[in-house]
Amino acid sequence: MSEGNLAGRVAVVTGGAQGIGAACSRKLVALGASVVIGDRNLEAAGVLAAELGDRAVAIALDVTEEQSCVEMVAFATSRFGRLDIAVNNAGLANTDRARVAALPLSSWRSLMSVNLDGVFLSMKAEIPAMAASGGGSIINVASVMGTVAVECGSAYVASKHGVVGLTKAAALDHAADGIRVNAIGPGYVKTPMLATRTPEQLAEIDSRHPLGRIAEPDEIAAVIAFLASPDSSFVTGAYYMADGGYTIK
Ligand code: NAI
Repeated sequence: MSEGNLAGRVAVVTGGAQGIGAACSRKLVALGASVVIGDRNLEAAGVLAAELGDRAVAIALDVTEEQSCVEMVAFATSRFGRLDIAVNNAGLANTDRARVAALPLSSWRSLMSVNLDGVFLSMKAEIPAMAASGGGSIINVASVMGTVAVECGSAYVASKHGVVGLTKAAALDHAADGIRVNAIGPGYVKTPMLATRTPEQLAEIDSRHPLGRIAEPDEIAAVIAFLASPDSSFVTGAYYMADGGYTIK
């Protein structure tokens, strides 16, 4: 993709302070967009925004709160005048590893509220601002767990399958507004989300990918940038895998 092909575009990135979200914030700024980095961790979002310069700003965001999502979008439109791109990336890892029969309802609810409700609430706030800007592109970050399952991961798996379905429904609902809505399905990615895994666990995770390794965050951000750009102008409702072949086995 040519440098500068997002010049003049305005983006929000949820969970944009670290990991995949930070790689997206960097990539979108590098391509010429202005970016609002929304994150529960305002300090880290602020450090990244300062590093990226005038076209990046940070805002405190909790995607589980409707008002917080509305405020992020209002901040983007008041600061930069429009909204063209949204990367709905904020998510929680599958930390409470239990089989379905042993999973506490509280664990199920807290994960679903960030990973699925959060995408719904983000889109609900973003779509009217995008429609008012003449259309746009939304990229929801799902996972390979949007199409396959992992043992002891029911809430995460259900949330990511939900993101894929929600993406298709939103793409249908808002195609007439000029808004494309796509999901991305990353394989495992080298981010702080995997910080608690041992070297042995990481080697086993590498081996699940036919390419023999997990992804760098930049490799996911590159696909998200493609979906954000006019290069993907006829792509909507898609679930785009970037998984090193994880789901072809
Ligand atoms: P990460 O844990 O490194 O970063 C997530 C970011 O989201 C953090 O900055 C965190 O503060 C923020 N966040 C968490 N809850 C939030 C909330 N309620 N409101 C606002 N911000 C919140 O995670 P990573 O690895 O960068 O993951 C990003 C997305 O990619 C997630 O949706 C995750 O499920 C998905 N993903 C990650 C994979 C991986 O192997 N790392 C693989 C496939 C998908």
